[in-house]
Amino acid sequence: MKGVILHGGHGTRLRPLTHTGPKQLLPIANKPMSQYCLESIRKTGITDVAIIVGGIGSNRVRDYYKDGQDFGVKITYIEQDLPRGIAHAIRLCKEFVGNDKFLVFLGDNIIQKEITEFAREFENSDASASILLCEVDNPSRFGIADVKDGKIIKIMEKPRNPPTNLAVTGIYFLTPEIFDVIDNLKPSWRNELEITDSLQVLLEKNRKITYHKITDYWKDTGTPEDIIHANGEILDNIKPSFSGTKDDSVSISGNVSIGIGTVIRNGVKVIGPAIIGNNCIIEDNAVIGPNTSIGDNCTISFCDISQSIVMADCTINAERIIRSSIIAFNSKIIKAKNHDEGVFLLGEGTQIII
Ligand code: DAU
Repeated sequence: MKGVILHGGHGTRLRPLTHTGPKQLLPIANKPMSQYCLESIRKTGITDVAIIVGGIGSNRVRDYYKDGQDFGVKITYIEQDLPRGIAHAIRLCKEFVGNDKFLVFLGDNIIQKEITEFAREFENSDASASILLCEVDNPSRFGIADVKDGKIIKIMEKPRNPPTNLAVTGIYFLTPEIFDVIDNLKPSWRNELEITDSLQVLLEKNRKITYHKITDYWKDTGTPEDIIHANGEILDNIKPSFSGTKDDSVSISGNVSIGIGTVIRNGVKVIGPAIIGNNCIIEDNAVIGPNTSIGDNCTISFCDISQSIVMADCTINAERIIRSSIIAFNSKIIKAKNHDEGVFLLGEGTQIII
């Protein structure tokens, strides 16, 4: 089997975070979200992976994953000119896939369940496709499957009146049969070639589509709230570790991982689950966590941060409470000595609730 990761798309709901790069590279527990997809694919034994890139920052994807060697896979990059739909992106992989079955992962889907068993079962089955379904509270936001007597009878994209709450997750096991279907597909109301429509065509042709219902954590990280939530869930399962240095005034509790070269001192409290990257300085009574990720090379003092993501190279030096926040790479929050000091800079599309 081969693997495909979709790394293109609009990323509009995550602006301004996506002004400078693709959403799938945004870190969750200090790791780009698409790396979780790649690791899931690698665990199934697949080593031949295509990454579909497009739009802003596609070079960043190439820079990060390179030829895949560091991740135990061989990566082929395929460029999508515009986000013309998930099925459109999949169609671009025809040559790469050849006659093999393949596994497609949407690069913004975070799943905790291992999918190795599903991959093995699909490889040995005569099904044309296999999907993973997950119960959701807001089914109109997803592709939805209608299931009767253990069989999928209909698949539809974001229906107004969903017949079930079974979301089609962004993990698809497919065969090359899908390419002909996509060739004959019409764009949907959102002017995209939909994977759900392609699957529906397979059903109408009486092809077999199997499914598994998953109950473990799964998240489509479409919104900032989703990212904060996924961050907390992933942190719950990180291995506690301490590779930095600290003084006796520091208190660390719960599931906490602290990176190499990080210094923690002067009355700091770290409350797990939390991760602090490499080469950070955390000092002066700062409180970090729970459910908080701090990227590499950050300097943080005085503030109290929880339920948040602070990406690499940030400085936060202010007696402030920071909650449910995403602070992007290389940002600064610093206390002014007087009102005329410095210029207050706010990037396009930024939201600050104070
Ligand atoms: O996450 C599961 C849902 O993903 C499914 O339930 C839906 O059936 C499916 O259509 C999809 O819905 P979204 O509206 O969330 O898709 P989105 O536009 O966010 O794109 C999903 C991923 O695929 C995202 O990582 C970007 C990437 N993508 C998307 C498009 C449209 C591409 O690489 N190229 C594209 O042209």
